[in-house]
Amino acid sequence: MTPHTPAIPRYSRIVGTGSMLPPRRVTNADLAADLARRGIDTSDEWIVARTGIHARHFAEPGVPASDLAVVAARHALEAAGCGPEGIDLIIVATSTPDMVFPSTACIVQAKLGIQGCPAFDVQAVCSGFVYALTVADAMIRAGSASRALVIGAEVFSRLLDFNDRTTCVLFGDGAGAVVLEASECPGLLATDLHADGRHVGILCVPGHVSGGQVSGHPLLQMDGQAVFKLAVGVLEQAARRVLAKAGREESDIDWLIPHQANIRIMQGTARKLRMPLDKLIVTVDEHGNTSAASIPLALDVALRSGRVQRGDTLLLEGVGGGFTWGAVLLDL
Ligand code: ACO
Repeated sequence: MTPHTPAIPRYSRIVGTGSMLPPRRVTNADLAADLARRGIDTSDEWIVARTGIHARHFAEPGVPASDLAVVAARHALEAAGCGPEGIDLIIVATSTPDMVFPSTACIVQAKLGIQGCPAFDVQAVCSGFVYALTVADAMIRAGSASRALVIGAEVFSRLLDFNDRTTCVLFGDGAGAVVLEASECPGLLATDLHADGRHVGILCVPGHVSGGQVSGHPLLQMDGQAVFKLAVGVLEQAARRVLAKAGREESDIDWLIPHQANIRIMQGTARKLRMPLDKLIVTVDEHGNTSAASIPLALDVALRSGRVQRGDTLLLEGVGGGFTWGAVLLDL
């Protein structure tokens, strides 16, 4: 008989972060001037008051999401102190893939010079990073992977209708990445994902490729007020569910890093969780809404600036088209 050896618990832990913003920074004034040339009226005052956004970054034409993803991934690998050869899983969250197929994750894999490991995209719009992190955590805990690259990368500017002032002022481009590694201690404490497809129509890009043509409307459409109302409610629910799953209290959270869509949604969520607003990480002011990239971008900026530190407890929360939402509670 072989002696019984107790199983070592297996968790996942973030060991490195990285990000990438395209160099072209577009202020509200720049955008307002551009829209004015099209006969569309907006202003820095309106955008700041309704959204908290002051500027966003736009990738140059021809720069695909994978280019941003690769730079963010390289920074995350450097921070983790490992090379691409140590990665055995790649997940890219994106709604702006380079191609219809293959996945952006496969393109990133090739650009990083990695072969053989599984690589796939997750499509959950602005909840994409929280979805991807949850999948990677589950695969690591199941023993299917040991060190994953989890990336959110978007060129959302490509989906914007610059004749629609209610949406084109909200979004930007960028990428963020983490290296998630198997660990004997957590790491990720609890995850919680949801979707409700009844709300497909309130936030969508309802076009598709058919017979070599784009069929339907290939630009973003949104009912902003419907999104706003749903977002605050579901973000509070998801936060309470991960706290309950992990046996933690609101007061245990050091930093709230929600999807960076609108400062009013973010502050509303913090208030519902009775968290002081100085525990809220805000990058929407400088990045706009970068969809699946917004959470890992905000995490990387906050960590590199020294605000967020190793050992802190973080609540990450995503919400977006689908309607999708979810949360990850973790010790960094
Ligand atoms: N500049 C100036 N005026 C504007 C602009 C603009 N860019 N956009 C709209 N307006 C006008 C409207 O035409 C309207 O004018 P009217 O009263 O004469 O009709 C007025 O401003 C108010 O418009 P509302 O739509 O009521 O403005 P609201 O306060 O709801 O703010 C906003 C709009 C910012 C879009 C808000 O609804 C919101 O943030 N919603 C959530 C959006 C969001 O977070 N989306 C991302 C979700 S995540 C994802 O998956 C992508």
